[in-house]
Amino acid sequence: MIIGSVSENKDIEKRISITPELAKKYLQSGFEIIIESGYGLHINISDDEFIKEGCKIDNRENILKKSKIILQLNLPDESVLSQLKENNILIGNFNSSQNLEKLQKLKTKKIFVFSLELLPRITRAQSMDILSSQANLAGYKAVVDCFAKFKKAIPMMMTAAGTISAAKVLVVGAGVAGLQAIATAKRMGAIVFATDVRMASKEQVESLGGKFLAVEGSENLETDGGYAKEASEEFKKKQEDLLAETLKKIDIVICTALVPGKKAPKIINEKMINGMQAGSIIYDLAASQGGNSDYTKADEVVEKNGITIIGDKNILNKLPVSASNLYAKNLFNFVLNLYDKESNKININMDDEIINKTLVK
Ligand code: NAI
Repeated sequence: MIIGSVSENKDIEKRISITPELAKKYLQSGFEIIIESGYGLHINISDDEFIKEGCKIDNRENILKKSKIILQLNLPDESVLSQLKENNILIGNFNSSQNLEKLQKLKTKKIFVFSLELLPRITRAQSMDILSSQANLAGYKAVVDCFAKFKKAIPMMMTAAGTISAAKVLVVGAGVAGLQAIATAKRMGAIVFATDVRMASKEQVESLGGKFLAVEGSENLETDGGYAKEASEEFKKKQEDLLAETLKKIDIVICTALVPGKKAPKIINEKMINGMQAGSIIYDLAASQGGNSDYTKADEVVEKNGITIIGDKNILNKLPVSASNLYAKNLFNFVLNLYDKESNKININMDDEIINKTLVK
């Protein structure tokens, strides 16, 4: 069975779906791998490294013609999609709610599309969970970037020349990205505060040494699936009062708050930003969904009265090697779950919750 992957648009996506390490695992499991020449060159992985593991290099047209399974990150453009054939299997992170029309078109051509942001958050799916593996790195990188940009030291330092006080960080949204942001900021010596609409996150924040800022009524805002519900106007007002006071003392804010299927909640408003100290930084990881902060512009750095507001659409492009390693591993685990080795066939078993939920219908 042949697995192929064509190069992403490298202007917007630096990650890759198959690394040499994972190519080796696919080959050991009985698959063949074909990729385009220069597939990983931009992240310092040469064609030779792939060839050494047994991969074949071919042109795009041949890859699409020969492969049963195509592994990608973003939904490829029409020039690629139009070459897919009946019974092909396309797997990636296709933002299915926003690309519904294109995905429906593939479905009518009897192409099976699996979009891994739809993966259920169940224990068996953890090793395939692209949202977690990528959010974890995003939370880490946002903190590291802010600390590099911040014009003061992060930890408290008591020296003969005087004492430097520790930087104060606020993490908005304590999910996967937020918890990693807290852990990273704590390791560097910052004092960390966090807030979330799910009270379940309080214990996790505290176990990492963060101080949880509880908004009254938070216990009501978690779905059965563990995600956040959209906050009421009353909740938003209480949250605003709490955060407006806190932000006056905060140096760095990491925003990660998301509500599945909705625009990102607007949490940090203009008034709060005006109350912050000059030199403070807001890193808005929710930028691609509209942002948690006023003034956030995706892929831009905005300066307002000495406050820097950073919004990246894809922060993972800033650590594409680590992000690719984890993403490729997630994909590998997903493919193995689809594959029946005995018969060398793909088994689209709709009784398997992982397969059923990720298949675009
Ligand atoms: P996410 O990326 O959808 O949202 C990030 C965080 O923002 C969440 O903690 C959410 O509660 C918070 N949030 C939303 N609106 C907010 C607001 N107005 N103010 C403050 N915070 C707000 O969430 P993520 O990181 O994907 O995790 C969601 C849940 O899934 C968590 O309960 C997590 O433990 C669970 N999970 C379970 C896994 C499993 O395999 N069992 C794997 C990964 C996550």
